[in-house]
Amino acid sequence: MLEKLKDLELETLVKIEQAENMDQLREIKVRVLGKKGELTGLLRSLGCISAEERPAVGKKANLLREELENAIKLKEQVLSDKMKAEKWEKQRFDVTLPGRPVLMGQKHPLTLVMDEIKQIFLGLGFQVVHGPDIESDYYNFEALNIPPEHPARDMQDSFYITDQYLLRTHTSPVQIRAMEKQAPTLPVRVIAPGKVFRRDDDATHSPMFHQVEGLAVDYEISFADLKGTLLLFVREMFGPEQRIRLRPSFFPFTEPSAEVDISCIMCNGEGCRVCSNTGWLEILGAGMVHPRVLEVSGYNPKEVTGFAFGMGVERIAMLKYGVGDLRLFFSNDLRFLRQFG
Ligand code: FA5
Ligand code: MG
Repeated sequence: MLEKLKDLELETLVKIEQAENMDQLREIKVRVLGKKGELTGLLRSLGCISAEERPAVGKKANLLREELENAIKLKEQVLSDKMKAEKWEKQRFDVTLPGRPVLMGQKHPLTLVMDEIKQIFLGLGFQVVHGPDIESDYYNFEALNIPPEHPARDMQDSFYITDQYLLRTHTSPVQIRAMEKQAPTLPVRVIAPGKVFRRDDDATHSPMFHQVEGLAVDYEISFADLKGTLLLFVREMFGPEQRIRLRPSFFPFTEPSAEVDISCIMCNGEGCRVCSNTGWLEILGAGMVHPRVLEVSGYNPKEVTGFAFGMGVERIAMLKYGVGDLRLFFSNDLRFLRQFG
């Protein structure tokens, strides 16, 4: 009998040791220790053995039960640890790997320049206003003193939607809209940034580009105010050493009119390829608001005066960042765009 117990002990311990998973372990437990299990069977048959042998066999059988139960518990722990380890192994990742970079967007260089222009004029007490991209012939031309058949229309001839509506060729119509809205209160001090459209297409002219219009109307506004405002703007934008030059020009909606140059950014006015050896670069058109324009917008030109200007945003961005071809701003090439901001 003791012999049988010994065999069962060895055999079961080996099986426990070899069990690969919980199912196998449970099976062993049932087969040996269960109600109909082998050890249980042996214990039941204790009755059949001699009285002298019985206590020793009984003791041994009980010890064996305890031993096997402990061995199974231990193995259970081992298997459960192993399962956990395997689960972690599957989910494991290398914490020393560099993280995936989050791709951050950034502002387009034209947006950066527009923001800077707005900031400068907000500081001078101007308000930002907007007008529609699709504009009527009246606001784009007529109210600005450009009647039908006026030669000034040719330079800007544009994209017509109908006979009466077109994609605006400049931001100057917003002058009229702003004054109509505000008249007769003073002062008027607005800038109007936005898209404009013309039948142009080369390295310095795009069919769609941006302008910022400026307008100030009040008692006793003079040409000196215009010049001072523009000089301050240019120095804020390009640096305190910048100089400006006003050349006589013509716009039907200003009188007198001027085109404004800044001293060349590249050569500091010495003369170079960029400024065609003149030392100067054109950035905008400007002038004193024409009396007829004030009148159609609700102001009395005998009482008030005003100045206005219209600058090309792409031109300013090209100068500020040293960009040689305006079309780069619209080609969506990330190698170009990532250099800003
Ligand atoms: C005008 O558009 C006038 N409305 C400006 C003005 C406003 C004058 C208020 C007086 C009072 P001009 O056509 O010159 O003017 O255009 C102004 C600026 O826009 C130019 O100096 C230039 O910087 C820019 N520009 C003109 N055409 C293009 C184009 N096709 N592509 C990019 N920039 C352009
Ligand atoms: Mg011009």
